[in-house]
Amino acid sequence: AKILCLNGPNLNLLGSREPTTYGRETLASIGSTLSASAEAAGHELQMVQSNAEHALIDAIHQAGADGVAYILFNPAAFTHTSIALRDALLAVSIPFIEVHLSNVHARESFRAHSYFSDIAEGVISGLGAQGYSLALAAALHRLDGPP
Ligand code: DQA
Repeated sequence: AKILCLNGPNLNLLGSREPTTYGRETLASIGSTLSASAEAAGHELQMVQSNAEHALIDAIHQAGADGVAYILFNPAAFTHTSIALRDALLAVSIPFIEVHLSNVHARESFRAHSYFSDIAEGVISGLGAQGYSLALAAALHRLDGPP
């Protein structure tokens, strides 16, 4: 099946961006790990990042048109602001897991609210880049059942 890993603003700077909060691993490196795992399980993972809300909305619409089965989504700062991205996910009704590298509950209070958590299948926050791998493992489990 097709799996989309969708990433919001400033995540293109992973590796150099606030490394004590977000770690040293780049998004490209996370993407190659995820793609390899998805491929090994007989699936196909596409990595998308944009700093623009409309581009993320378009990517979700495209995922609907392409029959994407599962989305791993780190909406980044749009987590806390975007009703439009929430509505896009509801519109395509593709199951998704919300991922954050940092523990959003251990930071500024404005990061504690998410426009996605109540409609996500699950939320992973605070486990760094490993959170993406854990989210993929959960998605594969839901798509295929236990290995
Ligand atoms: C983030 C957490 C958000 O609050 C922040 O705006 C980000 C990244 C994370 O992965 O920890 O850009 O989604």
